[in-house]
This record gives sequence, C-alpha cells and structure tokens, in this order.
Amino acid sequence: MIRSIIVGVALCVAIAGTAAAQDSKAKGEKVYTDSKCSLCHSIGGHGNAKGPLDEVGSKLSADEIRQWVTDAKGMTAKTKAARKPEMKAYTLPKDDVDALVAYLGSLKKK
Ligand code: HEC
Repeated sequence: MIRSIIVGVALCVAIAGTAAAQDSKAKGEKVYTDSKCSLCHSIGGHGNAKGPLDEVGSKLSADEIRQWVTDAKGMTAKTKAARKPEMKAYTLPKDDVDALVAYLGSLKKK
C-alpha cells in the first residue's frame, strides 16, 4: 500500500518534470523568435543560413550557450568568431535565458 503511494508520487513528479521541461523549451522557442535571433541564425532551414543552430546542443554545453546569450561580446572574443555583424549583448530576464538555453540545448545532431 505505502509502496504503491510512493511509486504513484514518484511517477507524478517524473511526469510533471517532463512537462516543465517541454514548457521551458516551448518558451525558449518563443524567446528565440521574439528576440529576432533568426536575423543571424537559422533553425530547421528558417532564418539566416550563415548561422545554423540546428546542432548547437551537440556542439556546445548548456553553459556555453548561456554565455553566448548573456555575454555575446565575451564569447565572440573567446572563440575568435569572425562572422559579421557580430552578436550583440542581450539583456533578457533570467527566465527567458533559462528557457532559451533549454530550447537550444535540445537541438542535437540526429
Ligand atoms: C547580429 C547578428 C546576431 C544576432 C541577432 C544573434 N546572433 Fe548569435 N551569433 C552571431 C555570430 C556572428 C556568432 C558567432 C558564430 C557564428 O559565426 O555563427 C553567433 C553565435 C551564437 C551561438 C554559438 C553558435 C556556435 O555554433 O558556436 C549561439 C548559441 C547564439 N549565437 C545564439 C543566439 C541567440 C539565442 C540569439 C537571440 C537571442 C542570437 N544568437 C542572436 C550573430 C548573431
């Protein structure tokens, strides 16, 4: 009896966790669109083909993606990125940054 309650609770937590992760990805996609990242980047063939982000989740860690979004200038210098126009600094609310990182981090090599 107790055991089935524990299993039940664990299952609920797991399901809620997945739903939250999906919410955050959907929000990240919206932040990406609203922030006009597609002026310089493309995902799924939409946007600027010079900056594809389709596999960025395989290429970069979540921390590196976060740094690009919060400190684009620093990352441009660090990676010696030469493409112009260079990425400008964004000041997005932390929630939006988290969602963006969750979304971009989910874009992996198939
Ligand atoms: C004015 C153009 C511009 C805009 C707008 C822009 N970026 Fe960038 N971004 C760049 C350039 C240039 C680089 C350097 C790497 C390259 O050449 O693609 C870059 C790199 C990145 C990288 C690392 C890519 C890699 O393959 O290493 C990520 C992640 C990224 N941008 C996310 C974003 C997000 C998210 C937004 C919107 C909030 C955004 N960028 C908006 C120009 C831009």
